[in-house]
Amino acid sequence: PKKVTVPDIRARKASGPPIAMVTAYDFTMARLLDEGGADMLLVGDSLGMVVQGHPTTLPVTVEEICYHGRAVARGARRAHVVGDMPFMSFQVSSMQALENAGRMMKDGAFESVKLEGGEEIAEHVRRIVAAGIPVCGHIGLTPQSVHAMGGFKVQGKGEENAARLVRDAQALDEAGAYAIVLEAIPPDLAEEITAAVSVPTIGIGAGAGCDGQVLVCYDMLGMYPDLRPRFAKRFSEVGEQIMAATRAYVDEVQARTFPGAEHSFKPNGPRRITPPA
Ligand code: KIV
Ligand code: NA
Repeated sequence: PKKVTVPDIRARKASGPPIAMVTAYDFTMARLLDEGGADMLLVGDSLGMVVQGHPTTLPVTVEEICYHGRAVARGARRAHVVGDMPFMSFQVSSMQALENAGRMMKDGAFESVKLEGGEEIAEHVRRIVAAGIPVCGHIGLTPQSVHAMGGFKVQGKGEENAARLVRDAQALDEAGAYAIVLEAIPPDLAEEITAAVSVPTIGIGAGAGCDGQVLVCYDMLGMYPDLRPRFAKRFSEVGEQIMAATRAYVDEVQARTFPGAEHSFKPNGPRRITPPA
């Protein structure tokens, strides 16, 4: 399959269909999500929560994003792979942002990077884009600011906050971002922002009016019960299936019904460990 490119993603604003993005953190999951037709795989700093078990995304490092990114890239045959810039890897200065975006791209897995923030990081975005690195923006609920927001809360409430988010989106558009994630904002505001920028908006908890959607893969699959935001639709109950499968495995081990003869090798049989096709 042909890789989804940044120009392909930009073009979807006019041509559709809506962009389907999902997070991924390892090779096996990336391959399944890619086969399922996801357009973009985000190696999100959400890995701090869903992979590492931290209560926030703050501890995640550039090295960890790169490590997971290399595994994801090996499974992404068609999907565009985005690397999330972690907390304190870009906030310090445009120089720091450019250096770390460059590090992430040189590592080899990523085809673009994503940064949280609006007007205040527009200059960083401009510098990274000028170096030939495509940038995806992310405004609204920005989890790296969880302590400033007083928790994971809906953003853009009230006219002033709504107007600020429109300005943030326009600043990212003008700085050259190729897409903008809109997280946890009311659908009307998301539609207003979508109409106010030239690039696709990718919503998470931002209604169906965006140019695309994104979900954390473990939320989408019903595997992460700790935080269940309203927008995290469970398209499957894989978590239930994993627990049921584990119970069945434990039972068969204890009953000695697994492994059976069909899972065991014959003394004079072939040495290959896989059954003949
Ligand atoms: O880290 C992440 O998973 C994200 C998405 C939810 C947009 O930033
Ligand atoms: Na993130």
